[in-house]
Amino acid sequence: MSVIPNQPQRVLSGMRPTGRLHLGHYHGVLKNWLRLQHEYSCFFFVADWHALTTDYENPRDISANTWEMLIDWLAVGINPNAAKLFIQSQVPEHAELHLLLSMMTPLGWLERVPTYKDQQEKLKEKDLATYGFLGYPLLQAADILIYKATSVPVGEDQVVHIELAREVARRFNHLYGREPDFAEKAETAARKMGKKYGKLYSELRRKFQETGDHEALETARALLEGQQNLTLGDRERLFGYLEGVSRVILPEPHPLLTPMAKMPGLDGQKMSKSYGNTISLREEPEAVQQKLKTMPTDPARVRRNDPGTPEKCPVWQFHQVYSSDDVKSWVVQGCTSAGIGCLECKQHIIEAVLAEQAPIRERAVEFANDINLVRNIVVEGCEEARDVARATLSEVRHALGLQFK
Ligand code: TRP
Ligand code: SF4
Repeated sequence: MSVIPNQPQRVLSGMRPTGRLHLGHYHGVLKNWLRLQHEYSCFFFVADWHALTTDYENPRDISANTWEMLIDWLAVGINPNAAKLFIQSQVPEHAELHLLLSMMTPLGWLERVPTYKDQQEKLKEKDLATYGFLGYPLLQAADILIYKATSVPVGEDQVVHIELAREVARRFNHLYGREPDFAEKAETAARKMGKKYGKLYSELRRKFQETGDHEALETARALLEGQQNLTLGDRERLFGYLEGVSRVILPEPHPLLTPMAKMPGLDGQKMSKSYGNTISLREEPEAVQQKLKTMPTDPARVRRNDPGTPEKCPVWQFHQVYSSDDVKSWVVQGCTSAGIGCLECKQHIIEAVLAEQAPIRERAVEFANDINLVRNIVVEGCEEARDVARATLSEVRHALGLQFK
């Protein structure tokens, strides 16, 4: 992906409110957010409407789960001064954009999203033959597009949803970004950049259109990003003119896939609430010890002097996440020669997990005891998010000709 100077890229990500988070969330998602919040303008939100798409029969837990999750976000160090934290349903503009996008989204695009059939299979006990469930990736597209997010940190399984958001944005721009005198307006806008830059823009545009040179396209985009004096309308025209015949009202987002340490669960499968193999971020130290001490090891090590193979042991996967190279060689050496016992081996993990959790647990208690502080943080985040969402929606209404004031 190109890096465009001068303009902070906007990152948006959401999480369903599942209640208290576990170490898998921390190592898979939150540590990534912690880094991103200092590098980008970040919007992080609780996707409570998304929870309804599968849990519409039990909406009662959503609000308690939302607060528990927000406490965990804050406790790990997501900083409300660096990132905007908000709750989806408190920014109802997402719903209006979702509605408008639903008018122009072909049904087949949604039916073909692989998670649609997969999840229905997986969650057989629920009736997911609903309108809301089919539309959930489109709601996600609205979540993203309403902030004109450039980058969306997601797991592998969500990349198809970002693809859908890109296609929807492209279709929207194609349908509603066309103006009768578009080319003329774009040429006029290019001249407003001054002789030198106007000429450079035209050359880069010609190069991209004639030869498909993506470098020229990226350079031209960077050039536009650097222009301070263009109106929003002119910017959109010039971005759109680079590639075709319409304004870019809703920019296409990119997935931000960051390879992360794979956090195993206590049984060696992926850590997940539905597998019952989790350690929660705020788990009491005694429970952490108990869980780790009793977790399975290489079944070949029945007795203390049976040698083992770390690759066949879930504890080894924890060492991948938590241990230094020195400790890891100590494990390999000791395990394969029956030189160490499994409890000894696990002790390193117990200490590392407890050390990691201690400050988080402490901060979580502080936030839990001051829930008004958490509420205020979210109220503020919602307001800031709403300002951005309103601005986009106003452009969208204009593009559709739906402004009555
Ligand atoms: N669908 C995501 C999940 O289930 C959550 C989500 C909703 C999201 N809207 C989003 C993630 C927008 C990124 C961007 O995990
Ligand atoms: Fe697993 Fe460590 Fe025991 Fe080897 S020594 S089986 S790696 S717990």
